Amino acid sequence: MGSRFIVLWMLLSSSCTGIKLKGNGYTDIVVGISSGVPQDNTLIERIKDMFTEGSMHLFEAMDNMVYFRNVTILVPPHWSSKNLTKATTESYEKAGIRIDKANPGYGDDPYTKQYEDCGSENEYIHFTPDFFLNDDLKHFYGSRGRVLVYEWAHLRWGVYDDYKQATKCSKHIAGQQSEEVAFCREDEHDAAAQNLQNEKCGNRATWTVIFEDSVDSAALQSLKPMQSPPPAPSFTVVQRMKRVVCLILDVSGSMAGSRILRQRQAATHFLQYIIEDQAYVGIVTFSSDASILKKLTRIENETTRKELIKSLPTTAGGGTYICKGLFKGLEVLREDNLDALGDEIIFLTDGEASDNLNTCVPSAIQSGAIIHTIALGTSAAQALRQMADKTGGKFIIATDDLTSNMLVDAFASLTIPTGDYTKEPVQLESTGLKTADWFNGTVSVDPTVGNKTSFLIIFESSLTTAYIQSPSGFIYSLRDMISDTTAKTITQKIPGTAEAGDWKYSILSGRSQSLTITVTSQAADADVPPINVKAHVNQQVSDGSKPMIVFAEVSQNYRPVVNAEVWATLEPEKGTSEIIELLDNGAGADAFKDDGIYSRYFTKLVKGRSSLKVRVRNKDGQSRFTLYGKSDVVNDKVKPEPSVVEQPLVVGNFTRTATGESFEVSFTSGKKTPNYPPNKITDLKAEIKEDTVLLIWTAPGEDLDLGTAKSYEIRWSNDHEMLRLNFSDAFLVNTSAVSPQESGSVEQHSFNMIIQNGATIYFAIRSEDKDAVKSKISNIVQVTKILPARGLNFIIIIIFVCVATISLCFVVVVVKRRRYFHKIQIYRRFF
Ligand SMILES: *[C@@H]1O[C@H](CO)[C@@H](O)[C@H](O)[C@H]1NC(C)=O
Ligand SMILES: *[C@@H]1O[C@H](CO)[C@@H](O)[C@H](O)[C@H]1NC(C)=O
Repeated sequence: MGSRFIVLWMLLSSSCTGIKLKGNGYTDIVVGISSGVPQDNTLIERIKDMFTEGSMHLFEAMDNMVYFRNVTILVPPHWSSKNLTKATTESYEKAGIRIDKANPGYGDDPYTKQYEDCGSENEYIHFTPDFFLNDDLKHFYGSRGRVLVYEWAHLRWGVYDDYKQATKCSKHIAGQQSEEVAFCREDEHDAAAQNLQNEKCGNRATWTVIFEDSVDSAALQSLKPMQSPPPAPSFTVVQRMKRVVCLILDVSGSMAGSRILRQRQAATHFLQYIIEDQAYVGIVTFSSDASILKKLTRIENETTRKELIKSLPTTAGGGTYICKGLFKGLEVLREDNLDALGDEIIFLTDGEASDNLNTCVPSAIQSGAIIHTIALGTSAAQALRQMADKTGGKFIIATDDLTSNMLVDAFASLTIPTGDYTKEPVQLESTGLKTADWFNGTVSVDPTVGNKTSFLIIFESSLTTAYIQSPSGFIYSLRDMISDTTAKTITQKIPGTAEAGDWKYSILSGRSQSLTITVTSQAADADVPPINVKAHVNQQVSDGSKPMIVFAEVSQNYRPVVNAEVWATLEPEKGTSEIIELLDNGAGADAFKDDGIYSRYFTKLVKGRSSLKVRVRNKDGQSRFTLYGKSDVVNDKVKPEPSVVEQPLVVGNFTRTATGESFEVSFTSGKKTPNYPPNKITDLKAEIKEDTVLLIWTAPGEDLDLGTAKSYEIRWSNDHEMLRLNFSDAFLVNTSAVSPQESGSVEQHSFNMIIQNGATIYFAIRSEDKDAVKSKISNIVQVTKILPARGLNFIIIIIFVCVATISLCFVVVVVKRRRYFHKIQIYRRFF
């Protein structure tokens, strides 16, 4: 029963944005309006107009094949709207289209948060309220429907702008006032143009990528064009008010002992520090039967929190009747208004179901509740991930390794952001150690956080000594802290706003035991969103065929934080953790340098489920806030100045930890990790100086960006197409003197080449691993030998040499070439 069930739900697995293509129509498109946006009902009308117009453009541009069928607009909780439908599983964080205050790097420019591989679905499109409300901006961007379709192509199909191709694909230039939208096909595409589309997508046309690589490629290849124009999109405007959450906790026999205690500690942390005031919380437990420990209770103050905490279960025994638990939880959620629409379930279990999941999981998914699931230990039911996936919930695993602190982190990551990050809890630290000695460390409180700061220490047996020292030297000792010997926790709340700077903690273990510390805080200023970290992988389920990429986005109010030190821990349910450093270097898995998105391939895949946790800190004081955006010129017109608020660019010491959703690896054949080739080199650059060509690139690894590749193969041609399509037939550059360095190193190779004046030469490179597995061919670069101006290229020196002895004079003509230097710039959209 179990495996058939899983297969059924896995097939329905959806993308990160939740958008689906059903027949010819796109459905489940969610437009999330941030809670930072003031109420304006015109905005809703303009969004509808944009989709209605955009649907026709999309339809025409895609040969009458696809259109926008239904769109849900999620308005923020604080808007006082009459008669809105209740939001169900829609959330701002997972909305494919976001309406929020301007990203200072882009101003009112619409853009798509794009950092996955070419052809992959991306995160979201960002529009500002002004983009809709200020009609003067249409002058710069063209009609909103057109803009939507171009951004849609970035979001859904992972293509890039190719508007620089003025000559070959002219009707598609964004700069033209033509109202037609079209995507470049191969025969109109200038594959040699130096633009982002060519650089990222292997010089292929946008049309080709959409039809061959995108999430919709299979559907698009079999879809028939529609015979008549599509119906106008339908819209639903929804809103979620307060959070309504039911904890459904496992108290079956396998939870007895350490697990039930850990469940209690983690749920306590959630109830004490994570869930916001005014939210409603209920608590249900299940084993052979299910019981309600707490009906929906509104969190008014500390007393309600304490009452909820007091009712958490402490004993365990019996079977694992998951369906009984789910039904009881839904019953609790339906108490207030007869439905569970938009309510949340936090479901934790450590076991396989004793009952038949087919009788409850589909109906739980249908209930309209967001179901977050936490799998504890190695044998938790497989259906958990699917349940979360189907309902917009999060799925997180926690192993029995106490020092990883994953159970606390799992609960702490179950928030539903509405776009206002000043009210969200922020985790500054979460770490652990098994020791009989001191457990010491430093947590940096930066100026963006400090309110509601708390230190939570969890121990295994007992503790007698613990200190927390503020930056100015004030010491909290154990007698200042709240110690709970049955829950085995010690907490210290810092009153007011915690002082910015380095806080030191020292905990004396005294005997061999596992200790963890969790430090949580919130924004120090209601107007300044804190530095925020989001971690995720590019695939929730992987069969190993497509490389796994780990991402962490470090930003503050859309400003990237660059030069941070970012480490990801990937902990499988069975086996040992892998720790990898994520980089923002624009090479390998990282699409763009200095955009605050740190990425790395993860090659040591382990079959089964794994958790993801990321730690971030200021790297040697080098971290900075930056702005990252497009040029100031759109459609050949200078944009209006965005109102950038001046803020200091120095970050100062900061620490963050973030938990991503867990992922699952299921190899189709055998149990081995595939032998990945070295990653494609994406940042090859070329310079020419006299007859010397210099090539610079970032070294790939033996497996993608891990380790050291075995060799390089550099080839050149006068013909771009030849190099691109028949790389092996192009001329070889002698690379016997180049031995690859470790992944991430800067490689340089210079060699002499006689190039005719005015000639253009193209170069590309690929690498090979020790098993002769070849990487993809790099981006193609060109050098052109240009002489400054005709006639000035040579200096002719005439020397008369008279040889007195034979009374003869020679005329010696020395022709000296002028030095010239030409540097090839690779076009990058973002610089
Ligand atoms: C809400 O909708 C109902 C029917 O859909 C209608 O009768 C009622 O007048 C509406 N109320 C407001 C305040 O618009
Ligand atoms: C940890 O801190 C304590 C108290 O500040 C100190 O006595 C001890 O030497 C430190 N231990 C280590 C290993 O740093």
